[in-house]
Amino acid sequence: MYTQLVEAPEGGIGEARSAEQAIFDDKIDRSITIEPSDWMPDAYRKTLLRQISQHAHSEIVGMLPEGNWISRAPSLERKLILMAKVQDEAGHGLYLYSAAETLGTPRDEMTEALLSGRAKYSSIFNYPTLTWADVGTIGWLVDGAAIINQIPLTRCSYGPYARALVRVCKEESFHQRQGFDIVSTLAHGSPEQHAMAQDALNRWWWPSVMMFGPPDSESQHNETSMRWKIKLFSNDDLRQKFVDQTVPQAEALGLTIPDPDLRYDESTGHYAFGTPDWQEFYDVVKGNGPCNRDRLRARREAYDDGAWVRDAALAHAEKRAARATSDAA
Ligand SMILES: [Fe+2]
Ligand SMILES: [Fe+2]
Repeated sequence: MYTQLVEAPEGGIGEARSAEQAIFDDKIDRSITIEPSDWMPDAYRKTLLRQISQHAHSEIVGMLPEGNWISRAPSLERKLILMAKVQDEAGHGLYLYSAAETLGTPRDEMTEALLSGRAKYSSIFNYPTLTWADVGTIGWLVDGAAIINQIPLTRCSYGPYARALVRVCKEESFHQRQGFDIVSTLAHGSPEQHAMAQDALNRWWWPSVMMFGPPDSESQHNETSMRWKIKLFSNDDLRQKFVDQTVPQAEALGLTIPDPDLRYDESTGHYAFGTPDWQEFYDVVKGNGPCNRDRLRARREAYDDGAWVRDAALAHAEKRAARATSDAA
């Protein structure tokens, strides 16, 4: 619909486009949401599509590290909670694919981009979950980081994305609480359990700090995305918020954050912290993390295993369409 609008041959394309651009800019300035039927610049559509589809892929791939523990959760209650959480993540993926589809790209295309390895998803999900404490730590840190990242986005400029994130954030809060509860139980348990919680924190801390993306000085998308209100805070600002929020929680758990440079800076009112290993981050993003290949293999297998469902749904839809045609004739 949008392509037809800007390529309409009559009426002076340049003038029409700049009038539409002015309306778009005005809406952004006044924080009026952009809706799927509104005119929007190509680059805005493209950037949003990249952001929302990456977010959707992250929710779907993010089911794998924790799904790995459903059969081994230590009690029936923990198993039920974990299953509910993993199912929530599937739901988040579906809301977000739907939001992305309103920008004109079919879900099949996004799925294909993920399975072929072209599309990116959050680098954090390429790390393994070695113990039960990892499941708690993911909920505590990774879902905690997701909340910090996503709450501002409920006010982002694109309506379908902003609205999808309202419900996503409510569910992420439950995820964070269940993770903290697991870590708290272990941290206050036997010396072996405490050591297990500390070990998980040691392995997940830096990947969590890196979840907010590269430093502002190296991030290509920050400035434009902020002007368009697709992003409301910079990577470094969100990262600082995460550290400030999480350090007191670790202290309450009696756990030590593995950063010798971490200290409270009275002059700024924030925690100062060390520099993550950005080389590791870029390696994981490029596909060389500990589990990148496993994750894609698992998604491809799931896609292939689901072929019969897609075939059956298609056959059913074709049958209904044929019946409707013969009824109309
Ligand atoms: Fe989620
Ligand atoms: Fe979550």
